[in-house]
Amino acid sequence: MTDKQLKQADTKRRTFAIISHPDAGKTTITEQLLLFGGVVREAGTVKARKTGNFAKSDWMEIEQKRGISVTSSVMQFDYAGKRINILDTPGHEDFSEDTYRTLMAVDSAVMVIDSAKGIEPQTKKLFQICKMRGIPIFTFMNKLDRDGREPMDLIDELEEVLDIEAYPMNWPIGMGKTLTGIFDRYNHRVELYKHDDPSVMVELDDDNNPVDNVELSEDPQFEDAKDNIDLLETAGNQFDTEKIKTGDQTPVFFGSALVNFGVKTFFDAYLNFAPAPTAHKTEEGEAIDPASDEFSGFVFKIQANMNPNHRDRIAFVRVCSGEFEKGMDVNLFRTQKKMRLSNVTEFMANTRENVKNAVAGDIIGLYDTGNFQIGDTIYTGKQSIQFEKLPQFTPELFVRVAAKNVMKQKSFHKGINQLVQEGAVQLYTSYSTNDYILGAVGQLQFEVFQFRMQNEYNSEVTMEPMGKKTARWIDPDQLDERMSSSRNLLVKDRNGDPLFLFENNFALRWFADKYPDVKLTAKL
Ligand code: G4P
Repeated sequence: MTDKQLKQADTKRRTFAIISHPDAGKTTITEQLLLFGGVVREAGTVKARKTGNFAKSDWMEIEQKRGISVTSSVMQFDYAGKRINILDTPGHEDFSEDTYRTLMAVDSAVMVIDSAKGIEPQTKKLFQICKMRGIPIFTFMNKLDRDGREPMDLIDELEEVLDIEAYPMNWPIGMGKTLTGIFDRYNHRVELYKHDDPSVMVELDDDNNPVDNVELSEDPQFEDAKDNIDLLETAGNQFDTEKIKTGDQTPVFFGSALVNFGVKTFFDAYLNFAPAPTAHKTEEGEAIDPASDEFSGFVFKIQANMNPNHRDRIAFVRVCSGEFEKGMDVNLFRTQKKMRLSNVTEFMANTRENVKNAVAGDIIGLYDTGNFQIGDTIYTGKQSIQFEKLPQFTPELFVRVAAKNVMKQKSFHKGINQLVQEGAVQLYTSYSTNDYILGAVGQLQFEVFQFRMQNEYNSEVTMEPMGKKTARWIDPDQLDERMSSSRNLLVKDRNGDPLFLFENNFALRWFADKYPDVKLTAKL
């Protein structure tokens, strides 16, 4: 590609994740977006795949035809002149640190909320990671076809619980059985809810009265919506693109993913404001221009292949600059070694443009035989670069781990060291007993760990669940081992830094009261 082509390709990319609490409707909305992109033809396909109700042959046909793996961790398709990359952030039982790290590789996020439930715990956790990165966050209040909470309540809760300004882009006219449509503030029109045709639009005049639609002008629910819009105009937040860019304001869209109501309007508006790939910072603080001639990227996730016949792993690389070409030679910063990238999985659709190469914003999957670690930077060119370190996330779940066969300590230690280095789980050792304790964000990480220990290192492990704990680090100078009790277990992390694993928040408060001068810190 010439410089100009590269720049054009970069600016077309929109790379984002959909974050939500399980059951808010992430799969359903993803499916609608894939429908818009022509990746799937029928609603229900992704869902059926998720629940296993889908004939495998049909599925493979779709994948072959489209050249895209729809349920994989990365979904790429073209829509409205943009190339969309959706990165999956598993909720459910798959919830893990990978989910968090995936958010390091996106340029914006869509937050899906169930309008009957409001902000739920997993949404909050994922939101906080996005907030920390200062990336734009767009909110979709889902399930408007069902009775939910008062829209104003939902907006208030969003602002209060998440500490972000909300700007409603539209407002519901009725809800559940009485849903008539949405007042689309952004496009200044009403989108009517009709079961047979999801996109009947009614224009509004300058006084917000419907043009040529008596039924709507006489609908008391429409009057209500108008009153609310007036209230928002006078007392609500101002629409502020600068604040959206920095993640300080979230545009909020009401709609229903299941009946495909308001989803297209949302997506079109979203694409207007969602940013193209921006410069990524190196450890030295230099910003790498996405349109730079030299290729660069970082590994944000390593996925073990759960098939015991294939021990390979896939390292997911977010391209940050230049152009990736199959078979190219790159440098790996950590080892300062050169390597050839020939064994690659692409997540690209067979598009008309037929650009086989990946540019900034795209994700490539490299088959890995142990060369990569999470956070690794790869690049071409003379200048050695390393992107900013990925943050470590404070684990919440803990297990005590040991080798089942005490005679097999060597393979146990080898396996545990490598997997910990790879970032699969966090390792701690207790001060008093030297027991090994593993920490993770989600249960799945332990299961993957156990599976890989057995399959890759021939080491059977026993895991004794310790449940949820609150981890807090303590300054070694302030540490007195007598501070440790049954309610706050004292352990060392991988770097030898001391921390307490508190039984619960009550134990944490008790500790803070007892030792008011001791400073405790959480990682994230
Ligand atoms: P997730 O990926 O966030 O976990 O959620 P998913 O899309 O699987 O949706 C969870 C449930 O909510 C599904 O129902 C889905 O059909 C339903 N749902 C999603 N969006 C809407 C919506 O806009 N309106 C309504 N009324 N329901 C919605 P389910 O009973 O678990 O599955 P299914 O048997 O209906 O497929």
